[in-house]
Formats: sequence, structure tokens, C-alpha cells
Amino acid sequence: MAIATMNNETDTISFDQMKTQVNRALEELSIKSNTIVSEPYIGFEKGFTKISVSIPELSHALIIQCLGIIKDHLEHIRIHAFSDGYYAVQALNKNLFKTENIFDNLKIEFSGLTTNFKIECTKKGNLSQEEINCFIALVNKAYSQAKENPVIRLIKYGASVYTDAGGLDWNYIAGYEEVKRTIRESIILPLKNPKVYDSIAEITRKTFETNRPKAILFEGPPGVGKTTVARIIAKEVQVPLVYVPVESIMSKWYGQSSQNLAAIFDACDDLGGSILFIDEIDSLAGSRDQNMYEATRRILSVLLRRLDGIGSITNTIVIGATNRKQDLDHALISRFDQTIHFPLPGEQERASIFGNYAKHLTPEELNKLAAASHSLSGRTIKDLCEQTERRWARKLIIKDLPPSPPPFEYYYHTVKSFIAAQA
Ligand SMILES: Nc1ncnc2c1ncn2[C@@H]1O[C@H](COP(=O)(O)OP(=O)(O)OP(=O)(O)O)[C@@H](O)[C@H]1O
Ligand SMILES: [Mg+2]
Repeated sequence: MAIATMNNETDTISFDQMKTQVNRALEELSIKSNTIVSEPYIGFEKGFTKISVSIPELSHALIIQCLGIIKDHLEHIRIHAFSDGYYAVQALNKNLFKTENIFDNLKIEFSGLTTNFKIECTKKGNLSQEEINCFIALVNKAYSQAKENPVIRLIKYGASVYTDAGGLDWNYIAGYEEVKRTIRESIILPLKNPKVYDSIAEITRKTFETNRPKAILFEGPPGVGKTTVARIIAKEVQVPLVYVPVESIMSKWYGQSSQNLAAIFDACDDLGGSILFIDEIDSLAGSRDQNMYEATRRILSVLLRRLDGIGSITNTIVIGATNRKQDLDHALISRFDQTIHFPLPGEQERASIFGNYAKHLTPEELNKLAAASHSLSGRTIKDLCEQTERRWARKLIIKDLPPSPPPFEYYYHTVKSFIAAQA
């Protein structure tokens, strides 16, 4: 018996049977994925079996995932080539130290730089069932990934993708100099110069791991610019912003929501660089030992696991936003490399924010508005400015007057009545 297990040839599948299996699997795949899977080449040349199938796309993330699949099916492999456009894996002999005739073993190749992507396998003699399964799994993987592009997948799973933040830039946010400085140092610099950070880590670390930030938490009351700042960052480093409102994903997909969140992380990897902005993290608030809903618990566990792996392959960085950091799960908080606190604006900042939305007012007038608007957020200030403009517009229309900006008194009145109504 020992001899039989040493001998790979004993458990091979005949060429014709293998051909039937592969053809049938690809037909099933065509139906399942609703795409046309191209006709495979299955041949026997000079003693070697060869199967070749065209696949739609050969992204880096896909290659890594394919390596995982190969590892699941074949016991010992070595990477034969790993360069852009050509990746090859060679199965080793059962006895790892025996290298003779190694090229008779199964070899799997991925090729294609911009077009003609394909997966091929060759082996002397016939394939084993496990090897056939491996090849079929690889083709399935290639088609499942390429079915839809990552942006379409992201939208399907409830994320929004912003590739251009409109006219937004740092001037849009008035004040908040400390926040802006921290963000420039801890997010923008690493995202713009990843190589510098990586080469430092290569020198300092016994085992290489990235020293770049992978997850950052934005914390602060509502309406202080957390979401806006995330969009500005994405624009500045020129990567898409993937916006994930946890709360609505949970309410819309309840049971399915944790799988969707996992799929969002996968799609971000395939984007090859993005800011994954997870908003309303508070909706996962509550300690894990309290009676948490099953869906929340599952989402949290996906989040914990994915945050650990984020950024290791691609340039994805996660930004989480919360109004209630104190209520968040401790394991979750610990996954973030850094917390950036967005406070309510101080008096001087409120004056600048008013200045952004009512630029025609004098500095003295802005200061008076600031003094009257204690503890209001940037969003509320913006809302009050808009209300004032609408009130002023109605007056212009009724009196048939040409366009002009609202006078200071109008703003002051809006602010005063808002504060009075709150008290
Ligand atoms: N410092 C500021 N300067 C100018 N506008 C501001 C400032 N802070 C907030 N705003 C305005 O308030 C609006 C709301 O901000 P944003 O949605 O980014 O807040 P947020 O912190 O994400 O709030 P939430 O916690 O409710 O999600 C922005 O569109 C922006 O117009
Ligand atoms: Mg927000």
C-alpha cells in the first residue's frame, strides 16, 4: 500500500473522463455566471495533458486568491514565475527533496498582460481527480470575479462610490487646523508616498509588515465635517471613496448584511486602492456581552476580521466615523491605528464657517454671529445660512427686487431665533 500512495499514477482519471468533466463544469459555469465561458483547449501532446481556458481578467487580487485555491488542492507547490502578466506554479514531488522529473508534475500557468488572459495546466500523463477539481475551481474563480466590475459590485451591496468629490478642497472646511494637520501627517503623506514608509519597515522589521495606517477612526458630534473630510482626502490622494452606511446596510439586508459587508471589503481589494469609509459605526455600538442582535454581532465579527487584514495586499485604508466612541466595542476600537477627534467649532472657527457661507459679511459681523451661536455645529451653521438666504429670496421676489446678498440683520435674526427655540 505504501508504494501505491507514493505513486501518483495510481489514482489518475482517464483522459476522456477528464475531458468530459472539464467540459461539463465549464458548461455549468456558463449557465451559473450567465456569461459565455470560452471553449477550452484540451489536448494530449508528446505525453503531456494540456488544458487551456481563456478567462476574462487577471487582476493581482485574483492571482493571490488563485494561489489560495491551488494550496487547498495540491499539497506541495513552488512558485515558478511571478511577474506581471505571467504567473506559474509547479507541483513538487511527494518527497520534497526529490527534484528529478519535477516538470512532469502538474504545472499551472496564468498569463496575459492586457488581453488574452488564460489559465493553463500541463502534466505528464493523466490528471488526478484533485488536480481536475483544482483547475475547475480556478476557472470558476476567474469568472466569478470578472462577472462584474468592482464598482458595480460595491453599489449592489449598498455602498456608494465617489470617484470625484466635485469642487471640494480643504478650503471648504473652515478652521479645524489641528484636525487638518493630523490628517495630512497620518493619512495623506502615507497614501501619497507608500514606498518611503515601506522601505523604512523593510529596514526595521524582522518580518516585513506595513507601518502605514490601515484604519483610522473619526470621532465627534454630528455635523462637524467628518464625512466631508473623508471625501476631501479621497480627492486629494486620487482614489475612489467607497461610502458604506452601516445602519442602512443592516436595516435593508438584515440577515444578509454581514456577507454583504465582506463582499464590500473584497470589492475594495479588487479596486486596487480606495478609502473605505464606514459611516455610522455607532449602529454597531454596545458591548459584545450585552444582548446584541444576531445581525449586529455577525457584522461586527466580519468587521473585526477584515480590519486585521486590510491594506496588506492593496492600498485600501479604512476610515470609520462615529458620534459615540465611548459606546463602541473595545475590540473594534483597538483595530483602529488612530482616532482623530473632531470637536464642535470654537468661537473663532464659527466665525470662519459663517465666513464660508456668507462671504459678503464684514469680520465684525461674522464675530457677532459667532458669539451668538455657541455650541452649534458647522452643519447647523450652514443650515441657518441657507434658511436666511431663502427668507431673503422670498422677500426679493415679493418686492420684485434684483438679486443681492441678505444683510447681517437677517442672519443675526435667524441665529437668535434658532438658539431661543432650542433653549
Ligand atoms: N468647519 C466647517 N466648515 C465649513 N462647513 C462645515 C464645517 N463643518 C461642517 N460643515 C458643513 O456641515 C455639513 C455636514 O458635515 P458632515 O456631513 O461632513 O458632518 P459629519 O461630521 O459627517 O456629521 P455626522 O456625524 O452627522 O455624519 C458639511 O456639508 C459642511 O457643509
Ligand atoms: Mg457623516
